[in-house]
Amino acid sequence: MEPRRNPFAPGAGQRPPELAGREAELAGFGVVVDRLSVGRPGRGLMLSGLRGVGKTVLLGELRSQAIASGWATGKLEARLDQSLRRPLATALFTATRELSARRRAADRVRGFWGVLKAFSLTAGPDGGWAFGLDVEASRGRADSGDLEIDLVELFADAAELAHDHDTGIALFLDELQDAPPRDLSALCAAVHEMGQSSSPLVVVGAGLPHLPTVLTAAKSYAERLFTYHLIDRLDRASATLALTVPLAREGVTVTDDGLDALLVAADGYPYFLQAYGSAAWDAATLDPISRDDVLAGVQEADAELATGFFGSRWERATTAERTYLVAMAELLDGRDGAVATADLAAHLGRRTASLSPARDTLRRKGLIYSEQRGTVAFTVPHFARFALHTDA
Ligand SMILES: Nc1ncnc2c1ncn2[C@@H]1O[C@H](COP(=O)(O)OP(=O)(O)O)[C@@H](O)[C@H]1O
Ligand SMILES: [Mg+2]
Repeated sequence: MEPRRNPFAPGAGQRPPELAGREAELAGFGVVVDRLSVGRPGRGLMLSGLRGVGKTVLLGELRSQAIASGWATGKLEARLDQSLRRPLATALFTATRELSARRRAADRVRGFWGVLKAFSLTAGPDGGWAFGLDVEASRGRADSGDLEIDLVELFADAAELAHDHDTGIALFLDELQDAPPRDLSALCAAVHEMGQSSSPLVVVGAGLPHLPTVLTAAKSYAERLFTYHLIDRLDRASATLALTVPLAREGVTVTDDGLDALLVAADGYPYFLQAYGSAAWDAATLDPISRDDVLAGVQEADAELATGFFGSRWERATTAERTYLVAMAELLDGRDGAVATADLAAHLGRRTASLSPARDTLRRKGLIYSEQRGTVAFTVPHFARFALHTDA
């Protein structure tokens, strides 16, 4: 059918035509924003889940919700070995610029930017002030060089500024599991301070399934700072809506057995719902979309996933790492799940310690994660099936 009207949106961070099954998180965050707006305590959300379940998209939607409530917002994506200092400075700059565009107190915002500049310049040799804005760095606040101390002060100033504008600030932090542990510890300390004073500054994060473990390891009280939400596969009802609502908007339907085939192939994973839905649309010539259209589409989409979604990650692995991945897939019999590293060693006839280098680099490359000591799991759904059947 007409490709221009294909409603589906496969791709990382692509806003889906219908954001299905995330009502609880959206409603929960709405309550938090409303509570903080009137000086009541409220906790930020931590979203965790496999790749392709819709964390980034949900983070974006929560941000839109904060903006609709008149809040100032900023976002960042954490990277391995990169301090949060500069990305946080940028996110806070974005947020406070929204404030400065509103009535009164533009000079107060500039005053905050002076503190922000000092904070940012403390980053070290690669640190800098990249905002093309001439304010004097004001020394003596948020510039000690100790991120924990500095962030506590910076957040306090930012929250006060927002409060004086009768609003709040929401920061959205993606891929948070990649942030350096020390920075996560500093972040938790700053969030903790905000909570003590019910300040209108909230941090919302997203990351891989082990994000809660990583945060708790950074600061043991992290479990009380946020509400934790496992972002998972959509149930059958939500997955059905994710497919049929966008089609209905285009005046198109799908046969019952076609829908069934789509649901089975996608297995509830948002990324696959978009990929297979899109491919089924392209394969169909007539309304309704039939089961044959779906099956042809799934075959097309699988070829694309094998080079894109799966292949792009597979390409990053060395030969030794691929051996490790295939062994995981064999033990899992092509299904998703966690593997004991001891079983993996036995399966490969190796000592566990000798496999640690491959495990560590695969972790750093974001292909696997460990939620519990002594286990590993794929970060990408259906990767086990892919690894079993790829002959690279
Ligand atoms: N609730 C949802 N319903 C339908 N599709 C969704 C939903 N959430 C995400 N998607 C789709 O899933 C894909 C992956 O979303 P993304 O947010 O990048 O996942 P993640 O950040 O968890 O890896 C995108 O194509 C997006 O359009
Ligand atoms: Mg993402």
